[in-house]
Amino acid sequence: MASIEAVRQALSQVMDPELNRSIVDLGMVHDIAIDDGTVSFTLALTTIACPLRGQMANDARERLMALEGVSDVVINMREMTAEEKAKLTGGASAQQEGSALGYNNVRHVVAVLSGKGGVGKSSVSSLLAVALRRRGHRVGLLDADITGPSIPKMLLHRDERPIGSPLGILPVQTEGGIKLMSINLLLADPNQAVIWRGPLISGAIKQFWGDVVWGDLDYLIVDLPPGTSDASLTVLQTIPLNGIVMVTTPQSLAGMVVRKAASMASQLNIPLIGLIENMSYAECPKCGEHVEVFGPSNAAEVATAMGVPLLGRLPIRPDIARLGDSGRLEEYPAEEFEDIAERLLALVPEQACTPASARQ
Ligand SMILES: Nc1ncnc2c1ncn2[C@@H]1O[C@H](COP(=O)(O)OP(=O)(O)OP(=O)(O)O)[C@@H](O)[C@H]1O
Ligand SMILES: [Mg+2]
Repeated sequence: MASIEAVRQALSQVMDPELNRSIVDLGMVHDIAIDDGTVSFTLALTTIACPLRGQMANDARERLMALEGVSDVVINMREMTAEEKAKLTGGASAQQEGSALGYNNVRHVVAVLSGKGGVGKSSVSSLLAVALRRRGHRVGLLDADITGPSIPKMLLHRDERPIGSPLGILPVQTEGGIKLMSINLLLADPNQAVIWRGPLISGAIKQFWGDVVWGDLDYLIVDLPPGTSDASLTVLQTIPLNGIVMVTTPQSLAGMVVRKAASMASQLNIPLIGLIENMSYAECPKCGEHVEVFGPSNAAEVATAMGVPLLGRLPIRPDIARLGDSGRLEEYPAEEFEDIAERLLALVPEQACTPASARQ
């Protein structure tokens, strides 16, 4: 017999055709009950005269009837209360900070930081999101690299655009269901350079956090701009983070810059969750021998010096570059990444830090 959770899961596949969002995420589903083979629930509509209500009800009915042991579906419809409507459209208090803020429920925010550019931070952020999604978590990926956005290029192979709604900007979803937001998705031409100065960048990041309808998320991964620049600082001071993951490569200099980044995090009082060494080694396709292309790994020493756990070492894999270049990184089998994700999950602090800007 289907469980309440299975019913909720099935209903989360039903979209409000107008908002293109799940009716569960929109807070439209209430009072789910199961009595023998009969499943009943209440569908709260923004207006009882909603012309699309039949479509949503039919879709819901079809999905529930497909569940094991369900022989009948009863849908009670009512209009949302004023309070529910206010929550849906942001409400007066949420409006001040960003219309979607009062509505979003993001349980953990993890930023991915590196000491310098090109170490594979965006690839690691994407693979992390993929690994968490594969484990069944609700995952978002915020591309906070405003002047060098690369997340859509790695995870989308179709031309997709976020759409506006009364709630705020609705993120684009990958095939696997990861919610994405990046400045590249908003530009008329994705090849256009973003030559913005600090205040504009900071405004965009605030909007990506406060005006994007992330809905209910277990994890929001934030891909930071490279290094300890002003742009990274803005993100760390704007978004309430649960922790930071550092990415490095096995060069001695990388160790130094990573320590600099770690010092920035500690000055901001944001916990460092751990270190991932990317491009750690290459594997010979013939004999399987590990070749340390950039020299011997110093990840363990760097991690010890920083006092953080080493979450794992990721080898150079031609597939990561190839799939990342064609918007198909979600297809990477990511076995190596499963372990990294698991270690990370065990270490993510439950409590988010209030951003420094809000503390001042
Ligand atoms: N483990 C890996 N194996 C093979 N290629 C990789 C690996 N990690 C990253 N790459 C490739 O290296 C390049 C740089 O990676 P990526 O864009 O993720 O780095 P980044 O640190 O985000 O860069 P930036 O500092 O510009 O934001 C990309 O072409 C990517 O496909
Ligand atoms: Mg990047």
